[in-house]
Amino acid sequence: MCLAPREDFPEIIDRGVVYLDSAASTLKPRQVIEAMARFAMYSYSNVHRGVYGLSIEASKAYEDSHEDVARFIGGRWDEIIFVRNTSEAIQLAALTLMFNGYIQKGDEIIVTQADHHSLIIPLARIAKFVGARLRIIPITAEGLPAWDLLPSIINKRTRIVAFSHKSNVTGYASDVKQIAKIAHEHNAIVIVDGAQSVPHMKIDVKNLGADFLAFSGHKMLGPTGIGVLWGRIDLLERLEPPLGGGGTVRRVKLAGEDLDILWEEPPWRFETGTPPIIEAVGLSEAIRYLERIGIDRIYEHERILTRMALRSLGELDERVKVIGPMDPDKRVGIVTFTIKGSSPEAIGMWLDKRRIAVRTGLHCAHALHDGLGYSDGSVRASFYLYNCENDIEALIKAIDDYIKTSG
Ligand code: ALA
Repeated sequence: MCLAPREDFPEIIDRGVVYLDSAASTLKPRQVIEAMARFAMYSYSNVHRGVYGLSIEASKAYEDSHEDVARFIGGRWDEIIFVRNTSEAIQLAALTLMFNGYIQKGDEIIVTQADHHSLIIPLARIAKFVGARLRIIPITAEGLPAWDLLPSIINKRTRIVAFSHKSNVTGYASDVKQIAKIAHEHNAIVIVDGAQSVPHMKIDVKNLGADFLAFSGHKMLGPTGIGVLWGRIDLLERLEPPLGGGGTVRRVKLAGEDLDILWEEPPWRFETGTPPIIEAVGLSEAIRYLERIGIDRIYEHERILTRMALRSLGELDERVKVIGPMDPDKRVGIVTFTIKGSSPEAIGMWLDKRRIAVRTGLHCAHALHDGLGYSDGSVRASFYLYNCENDIEALIKAIDDYIKTSG
């Protein structure tokens, strides 16, 4: 059973692709492409800079898009900052804290070995830049963050706890609420990478426990070039943006050799320069598409596909090693594996000949792969609402053929 009409996705129907790489980027339904084209052709102009009709119309569409994203994650419209992607959203959160003096020499930042580079690299660089200490929660034998070590690592110098909500390799979702509770007891700020969770499971920022949440439009049926940083409004209101520029200020006056700046209210003070206007319209349409299907149904659908893939891979051959938990209740939407004696790229190319698209390599999670002894990388199949059981069957059959052929 498929959850979304496949006719909405021309790459599946017209090109016959078995698309199992949604953790990298999802396909775009016609509705999203058409909404962007319509807007670009008939309603486009820059936003917040004109009194003419087109500009007012475009500004309204752009503001509505903040409302749509806010509704999807249970936040306020003015807590939604549009950036380029998750990586940029995490950098913006981290730079904002640094710029406002929140993280200083001798302070500590906690990340985990399971995290994606989009999180681990910016936090490590900021720690180095200010002379703070980076504390890394190691992984368990299953490749999950060893969260039981958090109480012994966190301390009164900890200023930031940052981590991926759902791993892009193991598909495991950490318990944000529980981790945030411990972090907040130590007055630390919690930054969560939601790139792999927001598109796939119900998120309500009011209950999540995070202070900042980052995610990408292109991983949830939307276009590339737009990502989101959600931040708690009381924080945003008292923070200066690290990146100033067009659209971020209400008034600027020369003050001797300095500038007297009156910042715009959030979110505008954090959105520097002309924003991703057409992309915001596309993201709104993507959200409406997801809402029509229902995020809880999407989550359940992926659970069924994940369970099926895990079970079938486990039964194939002893050379197939699944990375991450075999317990289907501990992972959703992502199944990553290796085949002993074969490079991930060789497997990926074999699958490509059968029009099956998977991701191969280290998936921007080198520390996780090294820690598990898979420094040559892995093969990752990831699912979304347009996948059906027969996609999993095609994958398993192709891998079975590969194993038989490669002896
Ligand atoms: N972060 C994306 C992935 O894991 C690109 O594939």
